[in-house]
Amino acid sequence: KEKEMEVTNKTILTEFILLGLSKYPKLEIFFFVLCMIIYMIVLFGNSVIILLSILDSHLHTPMYFFLSNLSFLDICYTSSFVPKMLVNFLSTRKSMSVLGCAAQMSISFAMGTTECVLLAVMAYDRYVAICNPLRYPIIMKRTVYVYLTALCWLIGSLNSLFQTILTMQLPFCGKNVIDHFTCEILAVMHLACVDISLNELIMLVATIILTLTPLLLIFVSYVFILSTILKIRSAEGRSKAFSTCSAHLTVVIIFYGTILFMYMKPKSKASLTTDKLIAMFYGIFTPMLNPIIYSLRNKDVNAAVKKMLSRKLYLQKM
Ligand SMILES: *[C@@H]1O[C@H](CO)[C@@H](O)[C@H](O)[C@H]1NC(C)=O
Repeated sequence: KEKEMEVTNKTILTEFILLGLSKYPKLEIFFFVLCMIIYMIVLFGNSVIILLSILDSHLHTPMYFFLSNLSFLDICYTSSFVPKMLVNFLSTRKSMSVLGCAAQMSISFAMGTTECVLLAVMAYDRYVAICNPLRYPIIMKRTVYVYLTALCWLIGSLNSLFQTILTMQLPFCGKNVIDHFTCEILAVMHLACVDISLNELIMLVATIILTLTPLLLIFVSYVFILSTILKIRSAEGRSKAFSTCSAHLTVVIIFYGTILFMYMKPKSKASLTTDKLIAMFYGIFTPMLNPIIYSLRNKDVNAAVKKMLSRKLYLQKM
């Protein structure tokens, strides 16, 4: 008899409810406005980076190819959950279809993994550029960097596809309230009515491999980069060499710093909402920072912006 109940219940689940901030309705408007503004900046800043790296021939280098891909990733990542989250802030019925949930989960997970791997590829690019400058054009050929980027996308997508399928094939029987802003994969997993320890283990192992291996590669690259930079005699040469990788290093520190901060900090039951808010906020805040970091610290990007603006003024005068 109980078996039967489970089977019928399993077919009932067609949607999830995302709790979000429903316990604090007054905060919802505030976060709606805040997230809307940040999302607009994310879209604008990252589109500018992509446009510049396509239009400006000075930026037709591997570094800007990777960077525009990073911007594209950030746009996809935020767009996978922010619009729905914004709608949910304003509506009383915060539902999400099972299919929509799976799509959102897989896209954001794929983008996260791809970004980890891409940051390692970018570190390798900086390593070759600084430690092996003469052979850089030969090593980082167009086919090589396009292939490397495609490989990052492949790794990210496969991992996400695998994890999403593992999660969505779990039997759900009735419990469908996700105490989160998005269809976060772990939160969804916890709704299943079977033992999920194996799923959690697989997820943990995959996450450790896919975040720590890139981190290790980045670390090794920067050890070589720093030792090369310190050997440069002139102070001017040293700061010039460092300036080509400082933006990447800043992005890496923010990205991995956020991940480590999230996982290392003790989880307190009392401030669960605060934890989720912080997690959500970082999720849209860091994609906003990447273009800012790269354009503030970079003469090439600034020059490209100025050139594009002046060209536009020139065209208007004609
Ligand atoms: C990102 O990389 C892929 C694979 O190499 C490429 O096809 C695509 O055009 C790139 N996108 C951007 C915006 O640079």
